[in-house]
Amino acid sequence: MEFSELIELRYSVRSYKADPVEDDKLHQVLEAARLAPTAANRQAIQFIVIHPAGQKAELGRIYKADWFVEAPLVICACGIPDQNWVRRDGKNYNDVDVAIAMDHLILAATDAGLGTCWIAGFDAAAAREVLDLPDDVEPIAFTPLGYPADQPGPKKRKPLSELVRYERW
Ligand SMILES: Cc1cc2nc3c(=O)[nH]c(=O)nc-3n(C[C@H](O)[C@H](O)[C@H](O)COP(=O)(O)O)c2cc1C
Repeated sequence: MEFSELIELRYSVRSYKADPVEDDKLHQVLEAARLAPTAANRQAIQFIVIHPAGQKAELGRIYKADWFVEAPLVICACGIPDQNWVRRDGKNYNDVDVAIAMDHLILAATDAGLGTCWIAGFDAAAAREVLDLPDDVEPIAFTPLGYPADQPGPKKRKPLSELVRYERW
């Protein structure tokens, strides 16, 4: 698939079929995340692959929408800020590194015909508890991973003229 088509096709899927995700497709999307660039190549990122079957109520504590646990898989993208590259002025780029890797995963999923939805509005304390996260690991984003059962709506985006400046602010 052309990259331009891929980024046009991706949308936030909020309804999923129960059909399983093939192992090779799961591997493909995780591999795409693995190949993502990270600041100073620190790779202070971790992905947790979760099978909601049998633990939907528990996972529902993390994010309340029914569709969160509708797909056969949920992925949690985590960062380990203490291991990340930090700019001289103290800015830690861990969120950025995790986001890039997650976006690789999400675009690879689209390429494989799978649906995803970035989720940041989750209960971080519940995520820590349910997923047994160590103190130094931060959950940054979740996505269900499965076959879409809905259709994309129109893309609502600002025009480039409202997003881009040239040479100076
Ligand atoms: C960092 C981030 C966090 C998001 N968190 C949520 C979320 O918690 N729940 C949700 O339903 N959608 C969430 N979204 C999806 C956005 O609402 C969605 O990407 C945006 O409205 C554009 O729609 P599209 O993804 O279909 O193109 C999030 C997206 C991003 C990039």
